[in-house]
Amino acid sequence: MINFSELPLVALDFMNQDHQHAVDLINDIEKQYELADVSAVEAGLKLLQEHCIEHFAHEEKEMRKYSFPPYQVHKQEHDRVLMELDMVIKQLNNHRDLSKILGYLKNEFPTWFAQHLATMDRMTAQFIAMNM
Ligand SMILES: [Fe+2]
Repeated sequence: MINFSELPLVALDFMNQDHQHAVDLINDIEKQYELADVSAVEAGLKLLQEHCIEHFAHEEKEMRKYSFPPYQVHKQEHDRVLMELDMVIKQLNNHRDLSKILGYLKNEFPTWFAQHLATMDRMTAQFIAMNM
């Protein structure tokens, strides 16, 4: 389980709110995982995917609006994560085997999420807040 209060806050409210929502979605998926409910995990991952698509698009729109210099680097990272998430959902859909996504769910995604918030998102939010 991810504890939102242990994650870094960034300088833009919409980002913090979205991050809180992402934490709720991830924790819900983990609950379904513990119940070994493959369909519910799959549905949860799709909600997370939708959330990420919308949230990343919002961040990217703000970055373009304020001509954030490392825009491409940040966007590439978003694109990579969306591709990875899509692969995980396809894998679960094909194999119906929760054990194959355990590492992604409990380790890879949460680790990436915390690091992304602490680095790229923090820098981006600070830049935009200063230029608003
Ligand atoms: Fe981001």
